Amino acid sequence: MVIAVGELATSQVEHIFKIAESFKDNPSHFRDRMLGKILALLFFEPSTRTYFSFAAAMQRLGGSILGFNGGQGTSLEKGESLEDTVRMMASYADGLVVRHKDVGLCQQLQTLIDKPLINGGEGTGEHPTQALIDLFTLRQHYPDHPITVGLLGDLKHSRSIHSLVRLGSRFGMNFKGYAPPGFALPDEDIAFLEKNGSRYQAFNTFPPYAEDLKNLDALYVNRLQKERLGTDHPPAAYFDVPLVTLDFARNIPEKCIVLDPLPRINTTDPAFDHDPRAAYFTQARNAVAVRAALILENLS
Ligand code: NCD
Repeated sequence: MVIAVGELATSQVEHIFKIAESFKDNPSHFRDRMLGKILALLFFEPSTRTYFSFAAAMQRLGGSILGFNGGQGTSLEKGESLEDTVRMMASYADGLVVRHKDVGLCQQLQTLIDKPLINGGEGTGEHPTQALIDLFTLRQHYPDHPITVGLLGDLKHSRSIHSLVRLGSRFGMNFKGYAPPGFALPDEDIAFLEKNGSRYQAFNTFPPYAEDLKNLDALYVNRLQKERLGTDHPPAAYFDVPLVTLDFARNIPEKCIVLDPLPRINTTDPAFDHDPRAAYFTQARNAVAVRAALILENLS
């Protein structure tokens, strides 16, 4: 079961990364490991990377998948309850990945079923498997020293960021925040970082000045989470144009890699893709190896 990053022991994270590295180096070695097993993907919110990288990982391990992407095609449309839908799927599969808009739902669903459930992204709450991919990617670039990660964009509603700060602080990361007014990192995330010995510094000018970005090892950018805004949300015009343009990139330190959980909706300008600091497609590719490791750990 993987519901929140806080439940993963540091030794488990290290173990998952070891398996992911070895999957990356030698995928054929793993091709029968899930033979005869089924992973159910229950995505009540649409997904490209999370859904399909879990699907690819399971199939590369020799297993198969069933499920839906976006909630269509089940008796939910006839009015069947979510709980019954999940119970049914648990009886057909060996493990489940659930994505839903309601925070706390995965925990509640896990109590109804006897198969391991993996949180595939829960509203504005957590996205633990994405944070593992992000940390894995960061560690491949910076194997041994504690790093400073800048967070740019909608920090308030980003579940990827909420999980990343919690996981990263355990590995000695410090963070700097760059958000437009109304989109700052929630106080509870900042309190968590402080309590766990990570430094957090918020910058109020948006977009940030060059000097605000100095000493960053990585910049993690996330789009405006439009679907999570209430009716009284603050003006979001800052997100009408890409945040990381070629001009902006001149202010990013030379060694600083740029990550993005994607999709990029006005996060990075495609013109930046050829820059050696652009690491978001590598990050997206790492998803298969990390999720393969998670499947092996949970369904074996
Ligand atoms: C993220 C998500 O769904 O939370 N995407 C992903 O899983 N790779 C980030 C986002 O949608 O902005």
